[in-house]
Amino acid sequence: MDHVRLIELAKGARERAYAPYSHFPVGAALLGRSGRVYTGCNVENASYPAGICAERCAVAKAVSEGEREFSAIAVVGDTEGPCAPCGICRQVLAEFGPDIQVIMANLKGNVRVVAAADLLPGAFTGADMSRTSGGGAREE
Ligand code: THU
Repeated sequence: MDHVRLIELAKGARERAYAPYSHFPVGAALLGRSGRVYTGCNVENASYPAGICAERCAVAKAVSEGEREFSAIAVVGDTEGPCAPCGICRQVLAEFGPDIQVIMANLKGNVRVVAAADLLPGAFTGADMSRTSGGGAREE
């Protein structure tokens, strides 16, 4: 699965976005270590904070299907430069691996690839809770 194909799958997911409030459809395609791809799109809501981003939609689909390790995610929006994941999505990606390659793209063909760890330096992780019973989330 190369970057070009993953971006194409994210573009396809973007077509299915539900974004009647922002009118800013986003698509994502998450590549699991198994080789399976999970697509996602933003799903908005009249109660704005209830909306979910494309990246987290893809992660939720994957985890609910039993996959927790990922090698890459493509994100596509109609942005001027490559579409950057929001802060909450950076945190969610960091949960599942600092090595995930985040492939940011737009409709004009601009692409930027950055490791999840570099998108959220100093991320708060389960390891930060190791002094309490809250640690060890990754083993569950
Ligand atoms: N959005 C995403 O789905 N992913 C991003 O990386 C950036 C923002 C969505 C959230 C909201 O539905 C719309 O784009 C405008 O913020």
